[in-house]
Amino acid sequence: MEIPRGTLETQTFYEQAGGEETFRRLARRFYEGVAEDPLLRPMYPEEDLGPAEERLALFLMQYWGGPRTYSEQRGHPRLRMRHAPFTVNRAAHDAWLRHMRDAVDSLELPAPLEKKLWDYLVYAAGSMVNSAD
Ligand code: HEM
Repeated sequence: MEIPRGTLETQTFYEQAGGEETFRRLARRFYEGVAEDPLLRPMYPEEDLGPAEERLALFLMQYWGGPRTYSEQRGHPRLRMRHAPFTVNRAAHDAWLRHMRDAVDSLELPAPLEKKLWDYLVYAAGSMVNSAD
């Protein structure tokens, strides 16, 4: 008998959430918010936010069990270290999560998947704070 893929709960979160398209939509919407944000926008060194959007999408795809393209291109994530050049204080943390909340909402994922994704993002954002000012 043919057992359809996924019925034995072998799917990764990446697959359950809709694969590459979902993570690209998430990163796209998030950076639309960042582009308009007076605190966050100046933190991004590049004129074009496209490459940053690509890195975030690839990182999240890899984190959730999708293709490992991020590490092929960028090496080990070491995200806290990569954020060290930027002042990630409480205000930056809150702004980042505000745009991420909007982006997560826009996906309209099933509630359990949305919660899992959001809980991770809250935890990860907290771990990126590197300044008390
Ligand atoms: C808490 C507030 C945060 C702020 C203000 C912030 C800001 C930034 C900035 C300014 C960059 C440099 C632009 C770039 O090279 O892409 C960056 C890079 C990046 N951020 Fe964040 N970030 C935050 C949290 C997070 C979190 C929670 C994650 C992951 C869940 C994340 C994932 C990334 C990734 C993957 C990159 C690209 C790293 C690379 O390969 O160079 N960031 N972030």
